[in-house]
Amino acid sequence: MASQTRISILSLLIIPLLLSLLTASAQAGSIAVYWGQNGNERTLAETCATGNYRYVMLAFLTTFGNGQTPVLNLAGHCNPSAGTCTRLTSDIQSCQSMGMKVILSLGGASRGSYQLNSTSDAQNVADYLWNNYLSGSSSSRPLGSAVLDGIDFDIESGSSDYYGDLAKSLKQYNSQLYLTAAPQCPYPDAYLGPALQTGSFDYVWVQFYNNPPCQYSSGDITNLVNSWKTWTSSFLVRNVFLGIPASTDAAGSGYIPPNNLTSQVLPAIQGSSKYGGIMLWNRYYDLENNYSDQVKGSV
Ligand SMILES: *[C@@H]1O[C@H](CO)[C@@H](O)[C@H](O)[C@H]1NC(C)=O
Ligand SMILES: *[C@@H]1O[C@H](CO)[C@@H](O)[C@H](O)[C@H]1NC(C)=O
Ligand SMILES: *[C@@H]1O[C@H](CO)[C@@H](O)[C@H](O)[C@H]1NC(C)=O
Repeated sequence: MASQTRISILSLLIIPLLLSLLTASAQAGSIAVYWGQNGNERTLAETCATGNYRYVMLAFLTTFGNGQTPVLNLAGHCNPSAGTCTRLTSDIQSCQSMGMKVILSLGGASRGSYQLNSTSDAQNVADYLWNNYLSGSSSSRPLGSAVLDGIDFDIESGSSDYYGDLAKSLKQYNSQLYLTAAPQCPYPDAYLGPALQTGSFDYVWVQFYNNPPCQYSSGDITNLVNSWKTWTSSFLVRNVFLGIPASTDAAGSGYIPPNNLTSQVLPAIQGSSKYGGIMLWNRYYDLENNYSDQVKGSV
């Protein structure tokens, strides 16, 4: 009798506690990371096995559009022209089996050449992505049979034209596909502004770095918070992530030390209903600086 009473009192205490933990984790943010631009950042499977990330962007498809044959560039990890990137198939599948979303990122700040020159060019690129990286089929899939979860737009050169058409064409193939984008913090973004207006994007990781007018600066969060408010109030997107460099080497400016992120910056932006978490550029710098390990409990 006495022990039964104790059990029911315990469950009265424990059940609400469990429920509140579940609610808390549903509201917590997650960490997105770019992987692929440094051969010394460990494998994709090891990256996912840390459990630190929810979204991993494969960086980058550096050449596409204008009728060009698309080119994947994963730095020292593998050589797509020799077909060796198909060794990533099992890594991608293991990441997905752990609940992570693996997304191909288009563009990037350097290397390659990309630009869409018409709506039909955008449709051709969508067809190519569907057949070679998503659920379609092709005899020359660069990552083998792995089916990626979505496409990320990191457009930082060329023109803003027709990216909205590309996004809409991809969503027509599969409305469940994750479409994400990495604009820079000056609003609206020079290359992604028009595409973002289509409302096709699920997650937007804004680059709050290399842009002093809208980033963190030695203890001063004013510019970053003002820009965050603009991004979270100005367009049709479900979630905005704070994109930051994972070490001082990762960007020219905008690095936020882990303690300053957790004590100063996150409390100022986490009240937003559109807060999704943080994006780190990139896995190599995160590994070098042990950044995600230090902040993940607060994201
Ligand atoms: C535009 O792209 C198409 C392929 O989609 C290509 O055939 C054509 O030459 C390009 N046009 C210009 C003006 O670059
Ligand atoms: C971290 O925050 C402290 C307290 O506001 C500030 O004095 C310091 O400059 C910040 N450090 C950096 C590197 O931003
Ligand atoms: C990385 O950070 C975590 C959390 O602060 C800490 O426990 C761990 O020892 C750190 N690892 C290294 C190699 O500094």
